[in-house]
Amino acid sequence: MALTKLYDNHGRHINYVRLAVTDRCNLRCFYCMPEEGIKYVPKDALLSYEEMLRLMHLLAGMGIEKVRITGGEPFVRRDMLYFLKELCAINGIRKVNITTNGTLTEALVPELKAMGIHSVNLSLDALDKGRFFEITRRDAYDQVMGTYRALLEHGISTKINAVVMENKNIEDLIPMAMLTKDDPVGVRFIEEMPFNGEGSHYETLAWNHRQILKHLQAHFPDMEKIPDPPHSTSYNYQIPGHQGTVGIIAAYSRTFCGTCNRIRLTPKGMLKTCLYDDGVFNVRDIMRAGATDEQLKATFLDALGNRAKDGWEAERSRQFGLPVQESMSTIGG
Ligand code: GTP
Ligand code: 5AD
Ligand code: SF4
Repeated sequence: MALTKLYDNHGRHINYVRLAVTDRCNLRCFYCMPEEGIKYVPKDALLSYEEMLRLMHLLAGMGIEKVRITGGEPFVRRDMLYFLKELCAINGIRKVNITTNGTLTEALVPELKAMGIHSVNLSLDALDKGRFFEITRRDAYDQVMGTYRALLEHGISTKINAVVMENKNIEDLIPMAMLTKDDPVGVRFIEEMPFNGEGSHYETLAWNHRQILKHLQAHFPDMEKIPDPPHSTSYNYQIPGHQGTVGIIAAYSRTFCGTCNRIRLTPKGMLKTCLYDDGVFNVRDIMRAGATDEQLKATFLDALGNRAKDGWEAERSRQFGLPVQESMSTIGG
């Protein structure tokens, strides 16, 4: 248990940071990035490992207990294992989790296990190789499945994240849910959000959390609701007799904001107190201008004292306007 507890202005306990370590990615999932890629941040504009470790020490002292490493794809950044080891050693950080596309991860799994990585969320939107290629625009299916098997073999708690998309992967939903029969995995279906780097979005979301649930229930009428862990992004279910669980994440409908316990740091060091805001202040700039730990701490506390009550309010107060233009890889998901 952390010595200090952090609360926001709505009384929500904040103990989780999502740290996006790079905006680069070796896939081109169409719901995240345009085919030609995005304009990557120059290397010296990224938070350095030293800067990130300083921040994580500071935040751990303020009450942060859980860190999730996201990107872009975290493992395209050089010396990531070195950084993860340092992070795992920080006093007060009880869980270091990773969200990865799994293309470069298989060979690293034994080391991740040895350093105590708590869980890995694997982005995988199709079990059909052709559809995987259509969605990601890269031929990396075998590598991702290799990572999946390696994670389970090494006993690392594993979830699969599948974004649900009309005309893209609906046929994959049931086969993916069937993975839970023999594997102790959490398969989570996610509403598509407008963070595709193109600023384009549908009028209404066809595959919202209700539609996803209806589809699953039509195939698995016995599927049971199970209790959700505190602060869970997913509503969780189990098919009787299956080892794993099935979840639905209402990422666009934003139904779980009332228990939101997280803040985000983008690769450029922007603090986001909500996924849907456009950034509160740039921590990197303040650090590089010579801020002391006390000054940084005061700035974080000020931001947490002015947090939007939910993702709808955060979206309405964006200064850079709508529609959302960012790619998920510049935000960290
Ligand atoms: P756990 O720590 O396993 O609960 O992971 P997580 O669900 O917090 O994170 P993950 O990186 O696996 O994200 C899964 C999906 O949930 C992605 O599409 C995220 O963008 C979405 N998501 C994560 N956090 C938030 C959030 O705070 N708000 C919204 N609206 N969506 C989120
Ligand atoms: N909508 C919903 N989820 C998305 N992700 C990336 N882009 C989107 C989007 N537009 C997911 C990835 C990854 C997680 C961090 O966010 O699949 O698993
Ligand atoms: Fe938290 Fe914003 Fe996500 Fe809601 S939409 S859960 S407030 S980050």
